[in-house]
Amino acid sequence: MAKLKVLEYPHPVLKQKAEKVDVVDDELRKLFDDMLETMYASNGCGLAAPQIGVSKRVVVIDIAHEGEEPAPIYMANPEIIWSSDEVEVCEEGCLSVPEMRAEVTRPASVKIRYSDYHGKECELLAEDFLAVAAQHELDHLDGILYIDKISRLKRQMLLKKLEKLRKERERE
Ligand code: NI
Repeated sequence: MAKLKVLEYPHPVLKQKAEKVDVVDDELRKLFDDMLETMYASNGCGLAAPQIGVSKRVVVIDIAHEGEEPAPIYMANPEIIWSSDEVEVCEEGCLSVPEMRAEVTRPASVKIRYSDYHGKECELLAEDFLAVAAQHELDHLDGILYIDKISRLKRQMLLKKLEKLRKERERE
């Protein structure tokens, strides 16, 4: 396995619509493994392939807390097939927008269809934080970041802070 570099906003790959995967084979499982390792090493709870520069519809998620058994979920070609009318507001962050957070409103639960690590077709009813993480990662596959879902004013403030953080990092 290999830890890969996570691309940051405004890298153009993050804005692209990712392509469907043809088949879940060893090559794709290697991508799943590398993405999971990269996600764990970055203390993230989800990672989409475009974030490592691979424009494919591939996602890994693990929302287990520190000290709990790892519970990775691997998704190829995930699709939301049902969303609740009920919505929930949750604070989100993203490895591609480092150290920033903002509140985002999304459906409280979603049902997702996808192919798993072995290419088996699965359906998952995601609720609570898993629903948030899954919708956030699936958005990445359509070139959407959570900062696209907040008000323009909040986005401008957040991006200004990000700019400041980057300048501070450069100085270090
Ligand atoms: Ni993200």
